[in-house]
Amino acid sequence: MKKIEIIKPDDWHVHFRDNDILKAVIPETSRHFSRAIVMPNLTPPILTGIHANEYKARVIAAIPKKDNFFPLMTLYLTENTNKKELKQSYENGSVFAAKLYPAGATTNSESGVQNIQNIIPLLETMSEIGMPSLIHGEVTDKNIDVFDREKFFIDKTLDMICRKFPELRITLEHITTDDAVKYVKEGNINLSATITPHHLALNRNSMFEGGIRPHFYCLPILKKEKHRKSLVKAATSGNRKFFLGTDTAPHLKHDKESECGCAGIFNATYCVPILAQLFDNENALPQLEGFISKNGPKHYDLNMNKEKITLIKSNQNLIFKKYL
Ligand code: NCD
Ligand code: ZN
Repeated sequence: MKKIEIIKPDDWHVHFRDNDILKAVIPETSRHFSRAIVMPNLTPPILTGIHANEYKARVIAAIPKKDNFFPLMTLYLTENTNKKELKQSYENGSVFAAKLYPAGATTNSESGVQNIQNIIPLLETMSEIGMPSLIHGEVTDKNIDVFDREKFFIDKTLDMICRKFPELRITLEHITTDDAVKYVKEGNINLSATITPHHLALNRNSMFEGGIRPHFYCLPILKKEKHRKSLVKAATSGNRKFFLGTDTAPHLKHDKESECGCAGIFNATYCVPILAQLFDNENALPQLEGFISKNGPKHYDLNMNKEKITLIKSNQNLIFKKYL
């Protein structure tokens, strides 16, 4: 297959940051995608509908005129989030979803949730009003090995949430393990998962190839090859519970190449061709449209995009092969 036409994709998990970085990175997403869910982990985080509206205006101002792109804003859940405020911001359209960060799990998650029991009433409200919950699924206990934190979160916390709120629309974000694939596949119908291009293309060896590679450091951290294989299988399977969330997460170069470098991989620029190459390697190009353009809107009960994109196979993809 030399050429495919598919529905224009969406990105269900992006970090745009703010100010100069925001202006620099938005065109990289808006050129390829129709919609994106915009993460709220700024400093300070987006805690209210008003903050989300102000941030949305800055995002919209940075979109190049030629691009038809719609940001979907999110609220950062804390143990102090006001139930009424949460409900209002969702119902008046200021935000599309709320993001649950276990405190300390990742970049700018310090204000996140320490004790899940304290946000049970918020989850209950979200379940009642149909507000999507986006979950960073890792425990933060320093005694748990960093490679096992996703599995522990599933067993300890996610399973409890799913059982308590079977109606809650949940996205387990950027899954990295075979355990997550299995749990989501077998889990209730309202549970889906996003997968990033880097967790599909790379395993944990990539972080240490010839030396330490800070640009391949992200959270959840890259895992063993068997987990990468399981993610690729899930993404290319056609199962509608799995869809693209790039987790494109820009950091300044000196913050990545540092004594204590930041977690996050910026991938917006090359994400779509990398995925096309990955799917082609698996002889699964016909499933690409489901993964990047159809399964997300199905989970969120949104219309599919009308615009189409064409992908053409050429020799210029050598740069991507380097990482595959
Ligand atoms: C993200 C960031 O930099 O904001 N980092 C990352 O490693 N993925 C936060 C996140 O999504 O975990
Ligand atoms: Zn993220």
